[in-house]
Amino acid sequence: MNIAIVGATGNVGRKIIEVLEKKELSIENLFLVASPKSAGKKILFKGKECEVSDLTSFDFAKVKIAFFSAGGKISEKFVEKAAKKCLVIDNSSYYRMDPHVPLIVPQVNPEALKNINKNIIANPNCSTAQLVIVLKPLHDAYTIKRVVTSTYQSVSGGGKAPMDELIEQTKLFLDNKEIKSQNFTKQIAFNAIPHIDTFADEGYTKEELKMTNETKKILDPKIELSATCVRIPILVSHSESVNIEFEKSFTIEKVRELLDNSSGCKVIDERKDGGYSTPIEATGKNETFISRIREDKTITNGLNLWIVSDNLLRGAALNAVEIAETLIKNKFYGK
Ligand SMILES: NC(=O)c1ccc[n+]([C@@H]2O[C@H](COP(=O)([O-])OP(=O)(O)OC[C@H]3O[C@@H](n4cnc5c(N)ncnc54)[C@H](OP(=O)(O)O)[C@@H]3O)[C@@H](O)[C@H]2O)c1
Repeated sequence: MNIAIVGATGNVGRKIIEVLEKKELSIENLFLVASPKSAGKKILFKGKECEVSDLTSFDFAKVKIAFFSAGGKISEKFVEKAAKKCLVIDNSSYYRMDPHVPLIVPQVNPEALKNINKNIIANPNCSTAQLVIVLKPLHDAYTIKRVVTSTYQSVSGGGKAPMDELIEQTKLFLDNKEIKSQNFTKQIAFNAIPHIDTFADEGYTKEELKMTNETKKILDPKIELSATCVRIPILVSHSESVNIEFEKSFTIEKVRELLDNSSGCKVIDERKDGGYSTPIEATGKNETFISRIREDKTITNGLNLWIVSDNLLRGAALNAVEIAETLIKNKFYGK
């Protein structure tokens, strides 16, 4: 099968290449696509050099599946045209809330892949993907009423440019030089910024509303979710402090067992120094790690968790490739 990656030179695109290299998918030709500035560049795939093509002249009829990870504006302009010729798995936020486009985390709602109308499938926001994969087994067992979460998100969530800027700002800070932020609203080095994406309704940011709306779409519209999203000065992996209120009672032992047996989840929770997961350990791993599992005794049936995952993998590249794998395994559900 022929596959294309649009945005192949970016953070997520490069991760998709890495993930595809490790998978057993039989790819005949991999087409790498980006902006005109990258056209002609060479990127290795399975030891072979692949030349980057310019998106404006790329013919999507050459491929069966195209992964798009070049931002919402590019998806808005190119995805529907591409979807006339191939199946598109879109990483941007552009189609996520479109009622005719399934929003998928394969471990959570693979059945929604049976309803592909526009030939487009959306990949969720990175903070949502790692959250719902943990919420799913708990919701099945105890029915979630409400979730309150605060995120600690790495700069790679914003793309490659913010990663470069964090390193540059850190050097300037250590050299006692002036810092002028370009990709952030304030200094990010040695700081925390409670603002990701633009401001939307009633003081919430779009990133916070994405977590609410996408969780409802993927898991259950009845779940209430309130989020505070914060950018912190680390390169990769997002962390989330999560408070959950269930309808039914639970035991900590059973929660641990459920999560540890859930596909894509791994419990690291030893209640001692270092007995929990941090972003550095999660980086480069496929699992979403769950630590600090404890009862919230201030409410009935309340649970507190700490969740960490590689945002470029579960939150983007791995999830997108697993969507493709699920489709291939199920023979595209007859389409
Ligand atoms: N980072 C995450 O954790 C994450 C998680 C989930 C979803 N996403 C989504 O994935 C998308 C990509 O994110 P990223 O972090 O990979 O961003 P990035 O590192 O900034 O990469 C952007 C990519 O888009 C390409 N691009 C930009 N303008 C283009 C144009 N006019 N025509 C064709 N290609 C163009 C760039 O190509 P050039 O190198 O040629 O400019 C590059 O390959 C975004 O929609 C983002 O919201 C990201």
